[in-house]
Amino acid sequence: MSAVEKLIQATPTKRRNLYQKYDIEEEIVRLAYHYNVPCEFFLIVTGGQWNTYSCSIFGANENMTQAQERKLDEFARMMKLKPGMRILDVGCGWGGPLTYLCKKYSCIGEGITVTHAQIPYAQNRAFNYEVNARFHLSHWETFKPKERFDAIFTDEVVVHFQDLQGFFKRCHSWLKPGGRVVNKELHLTEKKFADWSDPLGVHVNKVYGFTGNYRLLEDEVACAKSAGFEFVDRLDIDMKHYTHTVQKYWLRNLKLNRERLIKLTSEKHFNDFHKYLRCTLVSFRKNVFNQHILAFKKYS
Ligand SMILES: C[S@@+](CC[C@H](N)C(=O)[O-])C[C@H]1O[C@@H](n2cnc3c(N)ncnc32)[C@H](O)[C@@H]1O
Repeated sequence: MSAVEKLIQATPTKRRNLYQKYDIEEEIVRLAYHYNVPCEFFLIVTGGQWNTYSCSIFGANENMTQAQERKLDEFARMMKLKPGMRILDVGCGWGGPLTYLCKKYSCIGEGITVTHAQIPYAQNRAFNYEVNARFHLSHWETFKPKERFDAIFTDEVVVHFQDLQGFFKRCHSWLKPGGRVVNKELHLTEKKFADWSDPLGVHVNKVYGFTGNYRLLEDEVACAKSAGFEFVDRLDIDMKHYTHTVQKYWLRNLKLNRERLIKLTSEKHFNDFHKYLRCTLVSFRKNVFNQHILAFKKYS
């Protein structure tokens, strides 16, 4: 068993379902357990041109690339993107979302992530698309931008943030007056689901190194408001889009590429990942989650 597996194995049961404060170094090690595998693993699983590791929004007969772009265009609309704007993607994954937005809307981008493996891939993608985007290895708590941004966005990232209010405060200081922070995230339909302590829940949390938990929509809004933001826009996304993303694409991609994915990681990793995706489908069927894109504006 690797050192990080031992660390995760040793997480006390009472800390496994709730938000918890690790020091930044430990949090990064735990997050790496899920994310810091060879890029090719996630590129194969997510697919499409932009490799979003988050729910896409499917119009009639649309494929994965079109659905990724439909979702990213909603971000653009809610951020009110215009040419020349400076935008920040917190939790930028493999650089697809920021590259797409900078290309289509002629913006200047910065992306941050705690995952080493993502940086060179993201930077290379931006280079190939000839966009003005730079990627930094940084936890949001240690990020120190040189200039302010017109807009900040996150897509299925704040689930990992124990101090969400602190994150919104930081965004407030990074934005120009009138700037927006736009987050997409799953939210719990009922508070009781925060304690997902059955074997399925423990498996999902463990795959993520016990690095997060979900909130109610109103809890996220309260955190943003207490940091000085005005709640200005909301898009509800039907969970059928997440079921489609996981069932029709991610699980299928796993199945079609089993041997290659095992080679890139290990049989145990592959089986754990496969089980985790199936667990998420069970939680969707049980109506544990709904999902939204929320936009908040800084007035002064
Ligand atoms: C579920 S992935 C989503 C990636 C991307 N937003 C997308 O939709 O494809 C979560 C991302 O958040 C990053 N992340 C998690 N915690 C972070 C933190 N504290 N600071 C910066 N990035 C973080 C991970 O490295 C990963 O890139």
